[in-house]
Amino acid sequence: MSRVVAIAGGSGGLGRALVNALKKSTYTPLILARKVTLFRIANAPLEEELGVPVLQANYSDLDSLVQLLGSHNIDTVVSTISNYDNSHFAEASLIKAAEQSIVTHRYIPSVWSAFDYGENQENALAASRLALINALRGTPLEWTALYTGTFLDFYAITVPSKDSAGP
Ligand SMILES: NC(=O)c1ccc[n+]([C@@H]2O[C@H](COP(=O)([O-])OP(=O)(O)OC[C@H]3O[C@@H](n4cnc5c(N)ncnc54)[C@H](OP(=O)(O)O)[C@@H]3O)[C@@H](O)[C@H]2O)c1
Repeated sequence: MSRVVAIAGGSGGLGRALVNALKKSTYTPLILARKVTLFRIANAPLEEELGVPVLQANYSDLDSLVQLLGSHNIDTVVSTISNYDNSHFAEASLIKAAEQSIVTHRYIPSVWSAFDYGENQENALAASRLALINALRGTPLEWTALYTGTFLDFYAITVPSKDSAGP
């Protein structure tokens, strides 16, 4: 049976690229997105555009996240949640939910970094990512943090990117 892979933040640039890649694989991708608010588009057009289910995730409600993972039989969570603001709180909650879920076994945090931060970083972005990695170290989940190098199609606007939504 095809494993279900949830892309948290899959509506964004990197997330869309991963969703498009996973659609061509043996895995079954779906997207976790925050609740629709007055200022966000509804999920129906996004589902139509990307061709995968878009599930609403309330990252501030741990129990509902655990239930969401279980009810959709989500084996693997891949996070592409943007971490430029307070979003690491959302991801910390998602890691806890994955740990508590009896169906979720694997996790890829939203690191996707151009370089290894090492430990003891004072930079806020690095610190938030290291906190996610340390949280994962304390769980029984299989996890991998990916240090991908620089995405040239993100930073260099002349580099074409067929699958990503761009910067
Ligand atoms: N190595 C590189 O060169 C490179 C380049 C670019 C990005 N990156 C990394 O790749 C990852 C994804 O970047 P991206 O540019 O694709 O991100 P993005 O498009 O800015 O955001 C991805 C998604 O994160 C969700 N999100 C944003 N704020 C949130 C919050 N406060 N709480 C929960 N969810 C939130 C949103 O989804 P919903 O609104 O649908 O929930 C959004 O669509 C990040 O870790 C980024 O640092 C690396």
